[in-house]
Amino acid sequence: MIDIKLLIATTNQGKAKEISAYLEGLPLSVTFLLELNSLDIYEEDSLSFLENARGKNLFYGRKWEGLTLGEDSGLAIDCLQGAPGVRSARFSDPGATDEKNIAKVLKLMEDVPEEERKARFVSCLVLSQKGKILAEITGEARGVITSTKKGRFGFGYDPIFYYPPLDRTFAELSPEEKNAVSHRGQALKQLKTFLQTHCNWTNT
Ligand code: IMP
Repeated sequence: MIDIKLLIATTNQGKAKEISAYLEGLPLSVTFLLELNSLDIYEEDSLSFLENARGKNLFYGRKWEGLTLGEDSGLAIDCLQGAPGVRSARFSDPGATDEKNIAKVLKLMEDVPEEERKARFVSCLVLSQKGKILAEITGEARGVITSTKKGRFGFGYDPIFYYPPLDRTFAELSPEEKNAVSHRGQALKQLKTFLQTHCNWTNT
């Protein structure tokens, strides 16, 4: 079977790794954004994950002949009215890093009791080809924000996202365990089914 080309349109290495690991085994030849020679950066300015995912997808895929997969994701915390939300990557501006973003969340939630620390991770995937959107998929994982960091795996807010069904934070899960239950894993599961059904459209 001829491999179909898929561009994974994210500059976030943590996400790129999780996505490509999940799609292993499909007849896809995967390219990462950072492998392309020239890279203009898309400015995320939408108010929803889905709008951002569409924007990134169409921007990075505009010169690409194969399939393009764009993703936007983030953490929405109930007691912070959904923040950091679409600003998850740059919550602690300027010069946001995972460490600084986590420190800001923990500081804002210093006095919040456990029963009010509910949060959810959201992942929106958009698949397109030559400017035409083929699929839009959302995945969600619900958890609780801890008061200290735990675990060494994953990226972003994983060390403070406690996932009750497994009694661990996402950073305490192996990559395989996280992909099986995470927001991104759930969205990718649906994407995989979609791709398996449609893999014969075109072989670009
Ligand atoms: P963006 O989608 O590139 O704008 O960035 C999403 C941001 O949300 C990341 O930089 C992380 O801070 C956070 N995030 C998204 N998914 C995850 C995850 O699976 N674990 C931890 N943090 C995440």
